Amino acid sequence: MYLVFLGAPGAGKGTQATRVCEKYNIPHVSTGDILRANIKAGTALGREAKGYIDKGLLVPDEVVIGLVEDRLAQSDCQKGFLLDGFPRTIEQAKALGKFAKISCAINIAVDESLVVERIAGRRMCKCGESYHVSWYDKDTCAKCGEKLYQRDDDREETVKSRLEVYESQTAPLIEYYKELGVLKDVDGSQDMNKVFDDIVRILDDNH
Ligand code: AP5
Ligand code: MG
Repeated sequence: MYLVFLGAPGAGKGTQATRVCEKYNIPHVSTGDILRANIKAGTALGREAKGYIDKGLLVPDEVVIGLVEDRLAQSDCQKGFLLDGFPRTIEQAKALGKFAKISCAINIAVDESLVVERIAGRRMCKCGESYHVSWYDKDTCAKCGEKLYQRDDDREETVKSRLEVYESQTAPLIEYYKELGVLKDVDGSQDMNKVFDDIVRILDDNH
């Protein structure tokens, strides 16, 4: 399984990726998580990325492409992987096509009105789990017990810019993967268990 998850900010890519990777035992490669880990560790990459992320803009293609190419070359990715948040531009998709053959691109489609509410209520754990205040009222992680936090780029004005960037630069990838014949749409506005069932059905039918 060489998978790509497409979808607007807050569509549920991370939520579904965690479950899918657990079920099929493949690595979850999230460029957002990798960049945030670099910011936290204070690396040169993190310092460069922070300026873009805080404004809701994309980190330059050449930076993320190199990062993903290195990650996919690691041994745990040889039998499959799930890319969450990459590619995000046509340039990134073309580069990816040179070092990996994508077997399925799943587009988690949701209405913009829903994603704003989802992002505003999101609470994260550093172990990677994410929650929403509408169904989880504790301030510590159910999996590891760590304290939950809100992402810096989940502020209202940054979210607005992330959504604009998504529409102009990332949404065209839906057509790109449709033309390659690997695109599958999932209705991401449903309950998350239902979204998961739909994804599993698609993956079991296609692999
Ligand atoms: P990234 O971390 O990828 O953020 P994003 O794409 O904006 O997506 P999110 O993580 O916000 O949303 P999600 O779809 O994962 O939703 P989630 O499952 O958490 O990127 C961040 C930044 O890094 C970018 O802005 C950019 O600067 C940089 N970057 C990253 N990759 C890059 C790249 N390739 N190129 C250049 N720059 C890059 O769900 C959201 C909330 O909704 C949660 O609270 C969840 O519990 C809830 N929820 C999920 N599903 C449901 C459901 N079905 N029903 C109800 N609630 C739900
Ligand atoms: Mg995410």
